[in-house]
Amino acid sequence: MKPFYITTPIYYINAAPHIGHAYTTIAADVLARTLRLQGRPVHLLTGTDEHGLKIEKAASAAKLSPREYADGVSAKFRELWKALDVLPDDFIRTTEPRHEETVRRAFAAMIESGDIYKGRYSGFYCVSDETFWTEKETLSGPGGGKLCPNPDCKRPLERVEEESYFFRLSTYGGKLLSHYESHPEFLAPSSRSSEMKNFVKAGLQDISVSRTKVRWGLPVPGDEAHTVYVWFDALLNYLAAAESKDASLWPPDVHVVGKEIYRFHAVVWPAMLMALGRELPGKVFAHGWWTVEGEKMSKSKGNFVDPLAVTGEFGVDAFRFFLFREMPFGQDGDFSLASMKRRYNADLANDLGNLVNRGCDMAARYLGGAIPEALPDGPLLDRAKFMAAGAAASAAIERLEFGAALHDLWTAIGGLNGWLNEKAPWTVAKTDPPKAAAVISELLWALRAIGCWIAPFMPGTSARIHERIGVPKAPWPRTPDEARPVSAGAVKKGEPLFPRKA
Ligand code: MSP
Repeated sequence: MKPFYITTPIYYINAAPHIGHAYTTIAADVLARTLRLQGRPVHLLTGTDEHGLKIEKAASAAKLSPREYADGVSAKFRELWKALDVLPDDFIRTTEPRHEETVRRAFAAMIESGDIYKGRYSGFYCVSDETFWTEKETLSGPGGGKLCPNPDCKRPLERVEEESYFFRLSTYGGKLLSHYESHPEFLAPSSRSSEMKNFVKAGLQDISVSRTKVRWGLPVPGDEAHTVYVWFDALLNYLAAAESKDASLWPPDVHVVGKEIYRFHAVVWPAMLMALGRELPGKVFAHGWWTVEGEKMSKSKGNFVDPLAVTGEFGVDAFRFFLFREMPFGQDGDFSLASMKRRYNADLANDLGNLVNRGCDMAARYLGGAIPEALPDGPLLDRAKFMAAGAAASAAIERLEFGAALHDLWTAIGGLNGWLNEKAPWTVAKTDPPKAAAVISELLWALRAIGCWIAPFMPGTSARIHERIGVPKAPWPRTPDEARPVSAGAVKKGEPLFPRKA
């Protein structure tokens, strides 16, 4: 069976990683974990994007060679994924021979087929975004200068006048539109698809794919005065990684990217693949952006939030949870320590943490700490409805609707809390101990399922819940039968999963 191939963008290494970076890759990891729990083979790719002027400048500011600089920052990203419990199957660097070889071959093949030709570029270039702009697209700045039209950038642009290679993007408009038409799932979420379609319908220009002024890059095959434009280089990482591991991985099932790089992934990249005669990815999904305390994160404001600072205070799982609970995937949202704390206390300490604690404490007290083999006669809980929440969450994750998945799960957790209060086994125990025991057994059964369902978002907490209720390893239950307690394990009392934050 072909592994489900998921990619994240490869990260620019000109700055330290922040929560926005963590977002894309954790999202991909949540999807990967969900599919793995269902027993499906998955291949998750991430990596670092190491060529281009931006990196050249960052390296020289750090008084290092670009390669030394790249080695250091790339390693930081790898460590970050480990610290955030992200489990990539492959990590590609654009300075690796396997990547460089693919780029060289692709460039040469496209010169050969006429999809790339030599011309003269005259226009504007944004070093920060590594993006070319025509004069018409730019904004006017002070003193007649031109500014980057990306609303999140607006930095001064460089005027570029040079010989350049061009990719014949203009010839792919019709083919792209018919692909969008025949594959309605390709552009996602659907709210972003019309923007891409309109952009293509307005008419595509050929794009410059080489630079003569950038030395830190791959030489154009046969013409070393030019280096390959960093985006043309970077996009090919998805193909290079697959070809070097297992050719049957191709095509990717989903590229998860941020909205600001959607055009590269939804227009330029599929056109490049068409030129190369390769199959297109199944889906290109654009997520929204995080601001911090209402502001865009930027060097000038110095307000980058280090994910490790957040996990140091709240734990990795709480951070992973917050990212997807707080804003729907695909929309923009705001990060603040106050909202993080609010969610932590309400959803994790109260709703989930207390429920687990109450279940384990009562099991210790009324069941002698043993999780019963069989479910009580019942049902005491609407089991079908409860199980439907797990199925709905898993289906939502497959649609990359992570917020909806957590909404479903927390509705089920809220329902369990309400049900428990209504059944009040601590009171019933005084008059009808078997009935109280049955309610507690049912609760443990439900906690086992909850422990499974939260695993993609909160792998550590999932394991701790299962440990506490004496089910050390559990598969993803899809039916009540699969969620049956496997053995009479021992339930443990223990520390709260999420101690309240003052
Ligand atoms: N190197 C390119 C991608 C090349 S892929 C062939 C790049 N790198 S990046 O480091 O700038 O961005 C990596 C990811 O981080 C993108 O998906 C981007 O959307 C995401 N984020 C960076 N800042 C972000 C926020 N403030 N909020 C949410 N995600 C953001 O682009």
